[in-house]
Amino acid sequence: MRKTILTAFAASALALSVTAQNHELTVEMKKNGAPIQKTMYGLFIEDINYAADGGLYAELVKNRSFDFPYAFTGWQVAGNVEVRNDGPFDRNPNYVRLKSSGHGHKWTALLNEGFFGIGVEKDKEYRFTFYARVPEGKKNARIRMELAQPITNREGQDFLSREINIEGSEWKQYEVVVKSPMTEPKAQLRIFLLGNNAVDLEHISLFPVDTWKGRKGGLRKDLMEALADMKPGCFRFPGGCIVEGTDLDTRYNWKNTLGPVENRPLNENRWHYTFRHRFFPDYFQTYGLGFFEYFLLSEEIGAEPLPVVNVGLSCQYQNNGEHAHVAVDELDPYIQDALDLIEFANGDVTTEYGKIRAEMGHPEPFNLKYIGVGNEQWGSEYVVRLEKFVERLRKAHPEIEIIGSSGPNSEGRDFDYLWPEMKRIKVDLVDEHFYRPESWFLSQGNRYDNYDRKGPKVFAGEYACHGANGRKWNHFNASLLEAAFMTNLERNADIVHMATYAPLFAHVDGWQWRPDLIWYDNLRSVRSCSYYVQQMYAHNTGTHVLKATENGKPLAGNEGQDGLFASAVWDAAKKEVIVKVINVSDKAQEVKLNFTGLKKSQKPQLVDVTTYHSDDLYADNTLDNPTAIVPQVKAANGAALDVANVPAKTFAMYRFKVEGRK
Ligand code: AHR
Repeated sequence: MRKTILTAFAASALALSVTAQNHELTVEMKKNGAPIQKTMYGLFIEDINYAADGGLYAELVKNRSFDFPYAFTGWQVAGNVEVRNDGPFDRNPNYVRLKSSGHGHKWTALLNEGFFGIGVEKDKEYRFTFYARVPEGKKNARIRMELAQPITNREGQDFLSREINIEGSEWKQYEVVVKSPMTEPKAQLRIFLLGNNAVDLEHISLFPVDTWKGRKGGLRKDLMEALADMKPGCFRFPGGCIVEGTDLDTRYNWKNTLGPVENRPLNENRWHYTFRHRFFPDYFQTYGLGFFEYFLLSEEIGAEPLPVVNVGLSCQYQNNGEHAHVAVDELDPYIQDALDLIEFANGDVTTEYGKIRAEMGHPEPFNLKYIGVGNEQWGSEYVVRLEKFVERLRKAHPEIEIIGSSGPNSEGRDFDYLWPEMKRIKVDLVDEHFYRPESWFLSQGNRYDNYDRKGPKVFAGEYACHGANGRKWNHFNASLLEAAFMTNLERNADIVHMATYAPLFAHVDGWQWRPDLIWYDNLRSVRSCSYYVQQMYAHNTGTHVLKATENGKPLAGNEGQDGLFASAVWDAAKKEVIVKVINVSDKAQEVKLNFTGLKKSQKPQLVDVTTYHSDDLYADNTLDNPTAIVPQVKAANGAALDVANVPAKTFAMYRFKVEGRK
């Protein structure tokens, strides 16, 4: 075994060493490699798994406008309740009329179940709002709102109530802020008609007061904090398959998400019926979280917004025939949607869509730089349509970078056909998707090393390690393999400009797809093991790639490399070298670190070592134990480190200060 020089710090880190192997990583520091894009590690949101409605969008009432195809989805009714459709909001025309049942002991009432219940916390405030009027020539009416425990396993007792007077025959919005005396994750909202006079009710809504940035009708704070804590470089929205829709009628129409929420028309969510074993017929999109909100949140978390528009194709998994697609010579409105979107984001306030943005509260442009055209499309039907978009977008907006698709697979027929086509069409980036098993992630350590440097750049837009053998859920080993694979993204940052794990969010009671980055119930959330891997990269992106090799080859888990993966970056602002080493093997390994091309006075001084490890490879963080598996940072206070000891099954990261280097 090679004789190693160890500092006290390194010696203690070596305590876990059992069978040491000799590896040597040479980090060349004479000159910097390619710049790393600020967009590199980002986030991607799609309203799948109740990510928007029932998740990030903090509305607690389901079907608040009674405009679901079955008007009482989410509601139970008692007594005399009638649905009417000449309400104040023309694109959500339904409302309800509550009339006395004519018998003092027969209540007329509504009961909303929320999204898997309504979560409220002790001493927190909630804003109850609704539109109402008094019909039938009467002057006033009265209702009583209550929050109650569910009847299933508790008493069904109300724990909060307010009586509210309704006055006048004109529609008006009413607002009551209530404080919950108790914590109840699965409460119900009840509304009783009091007295004999009828009342019309519309857009019945309940939000926590304490939302992200305290906005009325805003976003769930804990989930937004998880996004902000990632410090993501880019933010892709709104999908995913929902961009395509099950058919063109149900595609995501960003224009329907503008203006007051009361008048944003409801859309089906294709994830409600996609999987028979995860069937949620009550899953719709209210668009309360729409494009304005997506742009705003991108800005607030410091990420480049990356909207995706429909390319004139509905979901290709579900529609084979041409009938499901827009004819090529009828694409104009779709292309116009993309042009209008750029105007909405960047146009000045005198333009049609810039004006709408200003009216919604953001006169400054959002500074959009990227647009995805089509989600996970494939075949010549995609290519012909994309070409039309590219032609028009380039002419009108040469400053916007266009992202095309390489299909649903990481390789194979569609992929091999699409990449050359993307080069021919000259899109700026190509979106690759890969949900693959462990074996794939282990074998892809060199994936981008030989990509053509002259063509479009890569956007790894959707990926996750899906464990094989029944382990298709979040667990530490999957996240470790993602970390290993990501060294390859990092080493190839000249061509890989963005990467986003998928999906982002999942409600524990309503998921359709897993693994996911962040899980939650009605009151709590938990960041998965994969979240922390993404965060370690996103917080340590660096500004330039540094060449890091063993015997001239990258450590990419290849034969003879003992399951070691590594990459190194330089952070010019902090004057730091960051070396990431992932040991996926089941033995601790020593890696000698050589920094070449530095002056004698520039010996790298270790700032800290972060290790990410779980003894149980199949465990993950849970709602009950959300920090069971988190990165451990150990300060090193400028010690030298010549040999890194990387424990088995560990993602280790070493940060060194190098003063006097550019
Ligand atoms: O992330 C889940 C789905 O996976 C996305 O909607 C789609 O783009 C891909 O097939």
